[in-house]
Amino acid sequence: MAYDRRSVKMCVCHKKKFAQIKEICDKEGLKTLDDIIHSDVAAKGCGMCHPYIEKMLITGETCFIPGDVYINSEK
Ligand code: FES
Repeated sequence: MAYDRRSVKMCVCHKKKFAQIKEICDKEGLKTLDDIIHSDVAAKGCGMCHPYIEKMLITGETCFIPGDVYINSEK
């Protein structure tokens, strides 16, 4: 699947790409969304990135189709 500029790639509130967040998680041993929030890495604003970050933690993906996390969670 090709991703374009409409893809979800970052926590907008923290201006941090999921790839950067994943790198920090790998380096600092952050394993859950709560770990990320409590360490002030990202996800502490509006919460719109939460399902994407949770999927990133499970799959390692850092670029998503908007809404894909919700569509796939119902399968
Ligand atoms: S987009 Fe991540 S907290 Fe708002």
